[in-house]
Amino acid sequence: MAVRKLGSIRFRARSAGALLLPALWLMTAGSAAALDNGLAKTPPMGWNSWNKFHCNVSEKLIRETADAMVATGMRDAGYVYLVIDDCWQVDRDAQGNIVPDPKRFPSGMKALADYVHSKGLKFGIYSDAGRMTCQKRPGSRGYEFQDARQYAAWGVDYLKYDWCHHGKQNSEASYALMRDALAKAGRPIVFSICEWGSTKPWLWAGDVGNLWRTTGDIQDCWDCKRKWGGLGWTQILDQQVGLEVYAGPGHWNDPDMLEVGNGGMTTEEYRAHFTMWCILAAPLMAGNDLRNMTDEIREILTNPEVIAVDQDPLGKQGVKVRDDGDLEVWAKQMADGSRAVALLNRSTKKQEIAVQWTEIGYPAHLKAAVRDLWKKQDLGTATGRFSAEVPGHAVVLVRIRP
Ligand code: GAL
Repeated sequence: MAVRKLGSIRFRARSAGALLLPALWLMTAGSAAALDNGLAKTPPMGWNSWNKFHCNVSEKLIRETADAMVATGMRDAGYVYLVIDDCWQVDRDAQGNIVPDPKRFPSGMKALADYVHSKGLKFGIYSDAGRMTCQKRPGSRGYEFQDARQYAAWGVDYLKYDWCHHGKQNSEASYALMRDALAKAGRPIVFSICEWGSTKPWLWAGDVGNLWRTTGDIQDCWDCKRKWGGLGWTQILDQQVGLEVYAGPGHWNDPDMLEVGNGGMTTEEYRAHFTMWCILAAPLMAGNDLRNMTDEIREILTNPEVIAVDQDPLGKQGVKVRDDGDLEVWAKQMADGSRAVALLNRSTKKQEIAVQWTEIGYPAHLKAAVRDLWKKQDLGTATGRFSAEVPGHAVVLVRIRP
């Protein structure tokens, strides 16, 4: 099968001077059967509580965040799913129904979902395929159909489903069970698989979930690596190489939620992180405090031309076409035949980075218009190649249109 063959190609991650299989990224997206729930035709966009707030979630935070999503222009930029991560749940009642924390969510989940919906947003929630969530709250194991019915009754539109405390469970079977439970519950619910890439979900999740995490948890740093498995965003980026063939409309690789605006990186570093997530056609789940966001961060998260790269209807994940050690070129094929090209400088000093047309599937003699998507400036036309000076730990993002 074509998918497997493509999947077995070995990629050289970050070796110096490597021109990477230039034609690969032009190939058709891979998964044989895609989950047919009609959702996530472009990568889902929204906000999730985990990266900034961890267990400190409440209906107050969610209501204020809903208000902020509207006031900051995030909703209108496309961020519609407001997702409560771990810790909203405390128990099960005598009938086995999941019980939200009565102190933190005194009005209940239905009222909260109604409020979120009244703002023109969609409501998301979190559970776990095992006995307990990662923070030791009740998981959905053995309660899949009951929980799915409950979510639908509350008005849930998105479920993130984690993988802690799963014992000897089989991942594909466990996630397929919740997929079927959601389908039976009778409400369209985006299904977000979160098993950290541990059983290679890209190989089996195309017809199980709308998105699947590919790695351990993102950290708010450029390239750190935590002993327990947390990763800076460039570490995560390296692990996306080769997964592009498995993504497409309705089923996406998920390199984890955004850290943009959480304080651990510079504005340029956040811009680079956001750019690369858009090149990857990654789900864009903001993870910062939207109630206190600087203008600079808001401008990164809401730049319409950059978001359009992520949300392009062709649904192609971008690929690394050149790797010169610290200097990388990534390209994403767009529905109109243009290319979004990111020149990424991972070193700490300013350097020139060039892209050759032949690396992005264009003939060398082709004349093309180049636009800088962050500067919002047309740079004129170029033939055969384009190059730019890129500051350290930064990116230049252009759209190249023949
Ligand atoms: C992790 C997951 C995180 C967050 C956390 C909650 O497994 O990767 O994104 O959901 O659990 O406990």
